[in-house]
Amino acid sequence: MAERIRSASLRKKVMSAAEAAAFIKDGMVVGMSGFTGSGYPKAVPTALAEQMQAAHDKGDPFRISVLTGASTGPELDGALGKANGMSFRSPFNTDPACRDRINNGETDFLDIHLGQVAQFADQGVLGDMDVAVIEVSAINEDGTLVPSSSIGNNVTWLKLAKKVIIEVSHWQSLDLDGIHDIYDFGLPPDRKPIPLTKPSDLIGTHYLTCDPEKIVAVVEAELPDRNAPFKAADEGARKIAGYLLDFLGNEVKKGRLPEHLLPLQSGVGNVANAVLAGLVDSPFENMTAYTEVIQDGMLDLLDCGKLTVASATAFSLSPEAAEKINANMGNYRGRLILRPQDVSNSAEVIRRLGCIAMNSLIEADIFGNVNSTHVMGSRMQNGIGGSGDFARNSYISIFVTPSVAKGGKISSIVPHVAHTDHLTQDVDVLVTEMGLADLRGLAPRKRAEAIIANCVHPDYQPLLEDYYRRALRSSYGLHAPTLLNEALSFHQRFVETGSMLPA
Ligand code: COA
Repeated sequence: MAERIRSASLRKKVMSAAEAAAFIKDGMVVGMSGFTGSGYPKAVPTALAEQMQAAHDKGDPFRISVLTGASTGPELDGALGKANGMSFRSPFNTDPACRDRINNGETDFLDIHLGQVAQFADQGVLGDMDVAVIEVSAINEDGTLVPSSSIGNNVTWLKLAKKVIIEVSHWQSLDLDGIHDIYDFGLPPDRKPIPLTKPSDLIGTHYLTCDPEKIVAVVEAELPDRNAPFKAADEGARKIAGYLLDFLGNEVKKGRLPEHLLPLQSGVGNVANAVLAGLVDSPFENMTAYTEVIQDGMLDLLDCGKLTVASATAFSLSPEAAEKINANMGNYRGRLILRPQDVSNSAEVIRRLGCIAMNSLIEADIFGNVNSTHVMGSRMQNGIGGSGDFARNSYISIFVTPSVAKGGKISSIVPHVAHTDHLTQDVDVLVTEMGLADLRGLAPRKRAEAIIANCVHPDYQPLLEDYYRRALRSSYGLHAPTLLNEALSFHQRFVETGSMLPA
């Protein structure tokens, strides 16, 4: 215990997860650590879910509001979701049990830009935070906290919460010490600039701080991060990566991008990870990344020397990659940097560095509006995450997707998106396994022609060509031709028949 909990006064506060969870009561607002399955508390939420279930079994209410950095894992969103213990959840979730509660209408879900969560919490619009539960990898002698595999909104939660529970993870590498760069730029009107001019810049401290009086419990835990495996890159993903690499190569040739590109941002998910894998065999050297999560593909790029540094707020790794990095964390110091998510996703920094943003999507329409979140306009998949922070402020905003989903029953390109996360103005390049549409500088009709010609699956191309031809004939205006009564007809057909293809 002394190896990880070096503060004698905090050692006195060590207790069981169940005892610590008992500080959390029905109706409370609780901020937890955790981002894309890493650095989230495991023992305390599991014990909390058991206490919730016991209360529910007796007919007593026990539900709370849960704020995190982003998605967590089965011991947090899974356990609380199964116990129906969350009345409110924000800002991002990938857990199926929690997703079901959201889509059944039992849990209110607030889907906000990850770079803006801390600011909303600071303003007080997400409620008064009663308790924070934060996973760390160690507590120093002076009570400062060595963060674990994500930072997320921990700076803000530790500041705002009335009571704090620290979960010390024995699974996390002790060599995480020195990987983090904690910088608090404050609130308007006294907000400071974020003085980052390169992804490798270090501008803060390695540790989190917390008023020791607020720490009511310290819990020891052993469980690993979620670390889900990625789907192996299929033929389609490899084609997407190929088109993207050709595009970036041409931008370099035209003198629009430097030879080592600009700092890369890569979104969550299998397709984004496959694109990174494609960069391993690319001609680009000395690349950098200023992104939100470090996935396997990013690690491979660092390992092969193509990438010199990756700055993010969290890891999101497969079990194998997590094991590898945990055994070698010290070797990555200076090359891997984890920052608070309002710094990793800061509009100011993304704009200054000129990031190349690469995100996945649920669907795009023929004008290049993008839906990243709502299946058929109404079912929440995961959330917007940081895609909006990056898409709006990047140098080039690229979206990648397979041209169809659900075995071809759904076209990823539709006449009109059923929900909009990214406006056409925030979408520069669209890539599917069918091809790439460079939409920069194109007015709506030219965007539609480029997308239909290059990105649509052959099963859906005639349908979209027919829709667009008729829209050109009878739309209310010709700036962005639209058939109002058919704009969502693909979605309607899927809901009615199980396929967007006509019978
Ligand atoms: N309609 C219905 N379902 C769709 C769909 C569509 N148009 N497009 C994708 N899906 C489903 C897939 O079928 C799959 O479902 P499954 O898990 O049941 O198999 C799931 O969405 C994931 O799709 P997949 O093709 O494996 O892609 P992915 O893992 O790359 O995820 C997103 C794609 C859009 C869901 C994911 O990137 C995301 O949540 N993005 C929003 C947040 C974001 O961009 N963050 C990055 C900022 S740093």
